[in-house]
Amino acid sequence: MESTIKRTCVYVYEAPVRLWHWLNALCIVVLGITGYLIANPLPTIQGEPNTLFVMGYIRFFHFAFAYIFTFAFIGRIYWAFVGNKHSRELFTLPIFKKAYWKELGHEIQWYLFLTKEPKKYVGHNPLAAIFMIAIIVVGGIVMVLTGFALYAEQAGPGSWQDSMFGWLIPMVGQSQDVRMWHHWGLWIITIFVLLHIYAAVREDIMSRQSLVSTMISGWRFFKDDRD
Ligand code: HEM
Ligand code: HEM
Repeated sequence: MESTIKRTCVYVYEAPVRLWHWLNALCIVVLGITGYLIANPLPTIQGEPNTLFVMGYIRFFHFAFAYIFTFAFIGRIYWAFVGNKHSRELFTLPIFKKAYWKELGHEIQWYLFLTKEPKKYVGHNPLAAIFMIAIIVVGGIVMVLTGFALYAEQAGPGSWQDSMFGWLIPMVGQSQDVRMWHHWGLWIITIFVLLHIYAAVREDIMSRQSLVSTMISGWRFFKDDRD
């Protein structure tokens, strides 16, 4: 017997949001790997520095992608002002709405396999929303501030990096404290990314709505009940 599934679809993520998502993901992967190698440098190899510039290239890539990450983030903030309502979800959390906290509780139960009933959301679900804002927005700002403060030390007094970000070092303590927070950021973001990818794939399979393809095409498909 033939069975059909009805689908409803909604356009959610506009092209700039999708482009930012994948560019941001690439930046985080490159920054994470190069940052890890800056913290745990490769063994010293004998030879002329002009032919063996491996750590130099690693730092170069870290800084190049740091600029891309920073400007892409500024572009994403701009798009929250001019884009559709879903483009603002990354920066706004309805913490004063009782329903938000209730649905957050339901979502935690759903992720812990304690309820069998998935809730459908056109934009971010309440649990994803809180993590994205805490780790990618707040965490991203912390990485930019601490990263440029470390850069300021190397660019030296009087540099624009020092004038704009140098104040952070005495505020946090000293240079090593800034480095420690920047380093913590790596692991906190890494844990988020692992959980985020797991959740995106799991929701795609289990919650009867499209997830991964939504971040590619922009459209969310809801699989309605079978006829
Ligand atoms: C997701 C974003 C980022 C991650 C995961 C990341 C990761 C790291 C890690 C793990 C380190 C090594 C810290 C240590 O010595 O223990 C590092 C160093 C550094 N990062 Fe980042 N970083 C990110 C973004 C940035 C940004 C936006 C900048 C801005 C310029 C930046 C600038 C630096 C600088 C200047 C250093 C020190 C390099 C050195 O001492 O040779 N990072 N990063
Ligand atoms: C470093 C890696 C990644 C980071 C930092 C990241 C971060 C984010 C952020 C911040 C958003 C919110 C987008 C917005 O509203 O502007 C998002 C959404 C999303 N991401 Fe990622 N992402 C990463 C990798 C991935 C990968 C590999 C996948 C696919 C398997 C994926 C699938 C999704 C999906 C499906 C959404 C939309 C969720 C929804 O519709 O509620 N992400 N991601």
